[in-house]
Amino acid sequence: MIGLIGAMNVEVEALEEKLQDRKEKRVGMDLFVYGKLFGQETVLAVCGPGKINAALCAQSMILHFQPKWILNLGVAGAGEEGISIGDMVIATAAVEHDMDTSPIGDPVGYVSKIGLIEIPCDPQLREMLVRAAGSVEGMRVHEGIIATGDQFISKAETRKMIHERFGAKAVEMEGAAVAHACYMHSVPCGVLRSISDHANGESEMDYPTFTRIAAAHSQQVVEHVLKGMST
Ligand code: ADE
Repeated sequence: MIGLIGAMNVEVEALEEKLQDRKEKRVGMDLFVYGKLFGQETVLAVCGPGKINAALCAQSMILHFQPKWILNLGVAGAGEEGISIGDMVIATAAVEHDMDTSPIGDPVGYVSKIGLIEIPCDPQLREMLVRAAGSVEGMRVHEGIIATGDQFISKAETRKMIHERFGAKAVEMEGAAVAHACYMHSVPCGVLRSISDHANGESEMDYPTFTRIAAAHSQQVVEHVLKGMST
């Protein structure tokens, strides 16, 4: 079983439409839909925005479906100049940029208990994502850190600060939370994000304009990954 998690309906609905032998299971407020997607046993969920929604959903998915890996897919704001709307960012690792216990001596972003700032993404899954994204005509692909926090970034200074601190190539609200839950259960994970806005003062305009197309891009890459897997 493969697990796919998006924060919003628009980030998974094109894939969900292709699901065959569709079944449903509700766990608390999370709805898991599962069946065959391009020949692969797959479970899909819309977790809702933010780190807690994402971590809870990922943990329920792990405990109820035992996926061999989980991919968090969807849209993100650009993490730096030079990354444009429509580009794809594939995480090498994810960070919780708003985790901050620095007043008691930790580096900003340090997550106690798991003892990490950069929560790793699975290199094999990343390789599959990079290959699949590279096969989509005209798609610019970046690999690097994806920064997650419980805020929509719409100020150039905030984006700059996150980039300077963590080297983030994209900013969003769920990736590191899914990676955190996966890390705690030793489940390989990936984060795939298509850029919908520049995470600056223009984001309030760009986000609604480009989200649908960006969300379609990341689902297209997942389709390529699943079709390329041997059953
Ligand atoms: N998802 C898409 N754009 C985003 C932004 N600017 N900040 C946080 N999450 C996002």
